[in-house]
Order: sequence, then C-alpha cells, then structure tokens
Amino acid sequence: MARARTPSRSNHELVFRSARKGEEGTLATVAYRAFQAGDPEAWLRYFTEHAHLALDNVIVAETDGQLVGYVASLDLTMSFAGADVPFQGLSSVAVLPEFRRRGIADRLVRESLRRMRRRGEALTLLHPFRLSFYRRFGFGVCELRDVVRTSPDRLPDSVLRRHVRAFSRPRDEPLIKQAYDVARADTTGQLKRSDYWWDVRVFKRSPSGAVYVDPGSKAIAGYLFFDVPEGGAYGAQQLVVRELHAPTPGAYRGLIGFLGALGDQYEVVELTLPRGQGAPLLDEPGIRDEPIVYETAARHPAGLCPPAHTAQRRSVLGLTAAGAMGRIVDVAAALALHPSPRKHGVRGAIGVDVEDPVFTDAPRAFDVTFAARGVQTAPGSTAGDRLSLSIERLTQIYFGAASARDLLGQGFVVGSAKAAALLDAAFAGPPLFLGTFNAF
Ligand SMILES: CC(C)(COP(=O)(O)OP(=O)(O)OC[C@H]1O[C@@H](n2cnc3c(N)ncnc32)[C@H](O)[C@@H]1OP(=O)(O)O)[C@@H](O)C(=O)NCCC(=O)NCCS
Repeated sequence: MARARTPSRSNHELVFRSARKGEEGTLATVAYRAFQAGDPEAWLRYFTEHAHLALDNVIVAETDGQLVGYVASLDLTMSFAGADVPFQGLSSVAVLPEFRRRGIADRLVRESLRRMRRRGEALTLLHPFRLSFYRRFGFGVCELRDVVRTSPDRLPDSVLRRHVRAFSRPRDEPLIKQAYDVARADTTGQLKRSDYWWDVRVFKRSPSGAVYVDPGSKAIAGYLFFDVPEGGAYGAQQLVVRELHAPTPGAYRGLIGFLGALGDQYEVVELTLPRGQGAPLLDEPGIRDEPIVYETAARHPAGLCPPAHTAQRRSVLGLTAAGAMGRIVDVAAALALHPSPRKHGVRGAIGVDVEDPVFTDAPRAFDVTFAARGVQTAPGSTAGDRLSLSIERLTQIYFGAASARDLLGQGFVVGSAKAAALLDAAFAGPPLFLGTFNAF
C-alpha cells in the first residue's frame, strides 16, 4: 500500500532567523556572490573579526536549508550634540543573484527593524544603495553633504598653511585619535571609534594626510586624510579629501590653505563637508567639472519668457549629496535620547500622530512633554497642539535635516504651527554628518 506523502514543510518556505556560530563562511560566500566585490577572505574577516558585529544581529533568510540572503546591524555609538548616543548601523543587505526581486531583502529589513525594537533600540542609520528602496520602511535622508569640487587655487589661501606638515602614522596615530575625539565633541554623527575602527576603517585604507600643528601649544589641532584616485594623468590628478577635522579657526584656514597651494599638481580638490559648510568656502563657482547649467527663467517678472540666450548662467558653488538615511525605531526612546531639548531649555506639551509603515500595530498617537527633566512621551491624544506626520519626516526633523515649520508650510506635515516651532527649537543642533571614514 502506497504511503500518503507528508507535505514537506521546507518546500520553498522562507525562514528568517539569527545567524549562528559556524555559519560565518557561508555568510561570506553569500556576501561575495551578492556584491561581486571585495574578496572572500575580506568578507570572512567581516563576519569573524568585526568589533561591532554580533552574529545575533545578522538576520539570515533560509529556504530549503540554503542560506540565500542576510542583513547585518552593527552596534555603534555616535556623537550627538555633545553626548554619545547608541544606534544600530544597518549594513550590507545581500541576496543571492538567483533569489532577487521576490521580496527577500524587504522581509530581511522588516525583520531586522522588529528585532531592534524588541531589543529596545531607539535609532538606526544606513547608507542606501537606492533611496526609494529604504523609504518604504520609513527611512529618510538625514545626512546632507556639501560636496565641493574645485580647482585648488579657488580655495582661500592663508599664511597659516606654514603650520601644516605631513601625517606620519607611527608618530601621529595617538595624536590624531586625540584630535578626532576633541573635534567630535560638538558634532552629530561622528562615531566613537574603537581600535578596530581606526585600524580597519581608517588606517588600513592607507590615506595620505596632513596635520595642522598649533603654533602656540604645538599640539595637533586639526588634520585631513586624502586619496589620489588612480587614473588621473599627471597634471590632471584629483585629490579627494576623505576626512577633515579642524575645530579651531587656525586649523581650518591652515589646512584649507594647504590644499589651495596644490594647484600646480592637482586639477581638482574634492571636499565633502557637513551641510552648509560648502558655499562659504568659495567666492567663485566651486564645481569644476560639472556641465554648465543655464537657468531658463520661465517666470520672468514681467510675465515674459526670455529667449534662451538671455538665460542666466548659474554659478555652482557645490552639490548637496544624500548621505546616510535614518529611522526612529522607537519614538518614545528616541525623543528621550536627544540631548538638545534639555540643553536649549525647551518646555511645552505637544502631540504627534505618526504613520509607520513597519510597526503598524504599535500606538501612533503620542503626547510629548518637554520638561526640565527631559522629554517624556506616552501614547495618547490629549495635547491640543498636534502634528500629523510620517516616521520618515519625524526622523528628518529629529536629526535637523528638515525644519518642521518648512514641512508644515509645504504641506508635507499637517497640524499646529506651535507644535512645529517647538520641535524645531527642541532639535536645533549640529547637522548629522558621518563623512567617509565613519561609513559602515
Ligand atoms: C539590493 C538587494 C539586497 C535587493 O534584494 P532583493 O531581495 O532583490 O530585494 P526585494 O525583492 O525585496 O526588492 C527589490 C525590488 O523587487 C520588488 N519585488 C519584490 N517582490 C517581487 C516580486 N515577487 N516580483 C517582482 N518584483 C518584486 C520590490 O518591490 C522591489 O522593487 P523596487 O524596485 O520598487 O524597490 C540585492 O539586489 C543585492 O543583494 N544586491 C547586491 C548587494 C547590494 O548592493 N546590497 C545593498 C547595499 S548594502
């Protein structure tokens, strides 16, 4: 008699779980095959040696016993307007090529977010491969970078460049680390760097560098690291600044003056700066090799549309580039973490009604009280002055990447002008900026 066949549970069913010890080699193979970049050994080290990666926080997708994709989240800490704040760095989502476009990465990211929330995490950041992919989970662009690509001689010169000397790792490593820690004190988004980070993410990339030695104290008051990408012919080389920390006026002017003196060698110097710092650096157009942009003045004051040849040439000082995206994972925990409301002495009670595409069962209406002891957030809709907004917009306001008042005026959030003004006042502070060597 033929036996009835028991249906196989593993019949193409997808299982999502934490990675286990012993799976590092398989993870490295999946990563290498998905990215087709780096080398398998480097990926293995990523899973075995990374100081901020715990296998528990690597979520894998498995089907029929095969590991077909994963997402990792790193335990990181960043500067936040004078405080140190923990966050989860969502990094390296990968799905094998033959399993793409069937929603596996989507489910991995959602699972990772749910687990973060269960663990009590407040915030997560990531570097998007594509903005639209992550916006569906409530991530918004929170790091806005000014990119200046200029010929060196357009940079302001300064006699202080005489205090700049070459960086030498054996001599300068501890001093650079100290200078970084001093510089990050008044920033938002600069990582608290472990020895692992300094070694693997900074020094192993063998950047060249320059340090500014303060003429009074003889201490390193600022530094920059740069690369010269291969391929530029002599005379047309480009110098790309990967990291610049110059918290004193002297260090800033000295290091910029140093770059400005390199015009006989380099055609272009590229700097990536926190939002707002690009334009003041230049008084002539800064984008060296962008196509010339003409404004077609469609709305002429007289209501005329001038012919194209009268269009004004736009003087491009820099580009705004999208850097990291962010997402509040837990509204109450995130608002309590932000150091600025207390620092600014903001007081008042407002309400926020938050749409969240992932945590759809969680409360969405909150009453928020800004008081001397900090920010208290509880589910409720008692407060009269309320704002209705997506978690993406709330996160952008939280990191100072967008103004609640502007968003209200533009119709991207809805509600009370008083509540919007209070949020802007509460979260005012340095803009989120991670830069190249804090990317994960
Ligand atoms: C990026 C990457 C992780 C995406 O993985 P994926 O599993 O294909 O992603 P998903 O299937 O969840 O979503 C991709 C798209 O397919 C769509 N999709 C999902 N299920 C689908 C289905 N059944 N049929 C057709 N399309 C589908 C999604 O809606 C999404 O559409 P979008 O283009 O509108 O965003 C994968 O391409 C990869 O590993 N790339 C190389 C590594 C990399 O670049 N990683 C990211 C940087 S860290």
